[in-house]
Amino acid sequence: MSVATIESLDHEGRGVAHVDGKAVFIEGALPGERVEYTVQRQRPRYELGQVDKLLRTSALRVAPRCPHFGTCGGCSMQHLDALAQTAIKQRVLEDALRHVGKVRPAIIYPAISGPSWGYRQRARLTVRKVASKGGVLVGFHERRSSYVADMSSCAVLPPRLSAMLPAMRELVAGLSISERLPQIEIAVGDATTVLVFRNLQPPSGADEVRLARFADHWQVQVWMQPAGPDSIYRLHPADASGLSYSLPEFGVTLDFRATDFTQVNVAVNRILMRRSMQLLDPRPGERIADLFCGLGNFSLPIARCGAHVVGIEGSASLVVRAAENSRRNGLAHLTEFHAVNLFDATEDSMAALGRLDKLLIDPPREGAIAVVKALGGRQSPRRIVYVSCNPATLARDAAVLVHEKGYRLAGAGIANMFPQTSHVESIALFERVTD
Ligand SMILES: C[S@@+](CC[C@H](N)C(=O)[O-])C[C@H]1O[C@@H](n2cnc3c(N)ncnc32)[C@H](O)[C@@H]1O
Repeated sequence: MSVATIESLDHEGRGVAHVDGKAVFIEGALPGERVEYTVQRQRPRYELGQVDKLLRTSALRVAPRCPHFGTCGGCSMQHLDALAQTAIKQRVLEDALRHVGKVRPAIIYPAISGPSWGYRQRARLTVRKVASKGGVLVGFHERRSSYVADMSSCAVLPPRLSAMLPAMRELVAGLSISERLPQIEIAVGDATTVLVFRNLQPPSGADEVRLARFADHWQVQVWMQPAGPDSIYRLHPADASGLSYSLPEFGVTLDFRATDFTQVNVAVNRILMRRSMQLLDPRPGERIADLFCGLGNFSLPIARCGAHVVGIEGSASLVVRAAENSRRNGLAHLTEFHAVNLFDATEDSMAALGRLDKLLIDPPREGAIAVVKALGGRQSPRRIVYVSCNPATLARDAAVLVHEKGYRLAGAGIANMFPQTSHVESIALFERVTD
């Protein structure tokens, strides 16, 4: 048994200590705490450990709400006060900007927060038949493992979905294809909830009856996915309307399919949208590119402000959805959408988009290095709002914008899009300083 005093939290929510000059990352430990821990993995330069006993407890420690916390890999910070979680994420962002990007924002924006529990409007649950656990498991993966957590509830899912988990297990256990059904994807819209069952084998007639009964009882739609994301089809009820979410402040409603990318936390997304539009400040007559635009989450509010939007997205089906959403909201005259792989962006391909006054960038975790490297020559928007789900790639891209492309980092802040987890969503504003 070893003893350590925790100095800080790492980006995965583990306590960081130094013992005999070696870094130790300890699961379940908080800054300021003194803990006894077991070493789980030894590496030449660091160790991974797990708390066994708290010798001194942090004032920021709270009781985890979920009985599965510690085992389930869905959350890593339930033992930490919600405000402290936000502060830690803020520091993760600032550290990344300072150490990776060697940049410092002129302003730190107040953190964007929403509900701490029941916020998760979409989830991908793994399904596995495990005889030793008494049947079928439906849940997130266990922490750092490919095992499925034995979950009967989930505090970050909306309560209605959490309550549905035991029934989902029972439902799958009773299907003839229970061993050929590896995943259930959940998507919640403003008016309806969809469950997509990934099936490697067609359901039998009796399976279809059970699935339909489940849908009626829980007031959800059941869809099947026999192959890739585009293969999904509605099993029951046959005539229900599709998924959509609204952004009331901008008077837009976006339709989506259960397997499309949408922001997980609707409440935080709405505030993030307000902040993004304040920073971008779209004006009539401007041409603004929304890069990695998905189904138009940012494009439509930008167009609603009167600017012309050039939406670029890698997924052809999302481009179609964005164009349909724009048309349905009466914004088609202000938008155009194109399917382009932005990881291959070059100065020429960016110049081909025409004059751009401003950019909104919201890339996946990999960031937007090709895009930022392609800026500064013929394509030099005067303002860039960069929304990021990975502080490390944001910081790397910020370094290029600030040290090579003539921009200043006017401000940065976090949005607590994923409370109880260590995921950090951030927003940054870059302004061109050179003409
Ligand atoms: C974080 S999501 C943002 C989507 C949208 N802005 C929103 O708020 O809903 C990132 C988007 O980038 C798209 N994407 C991923 N790789 C891409 C690539 N290489 N080129 C263009 N788009 C890509 C994904 O399909 C996804 O829609």
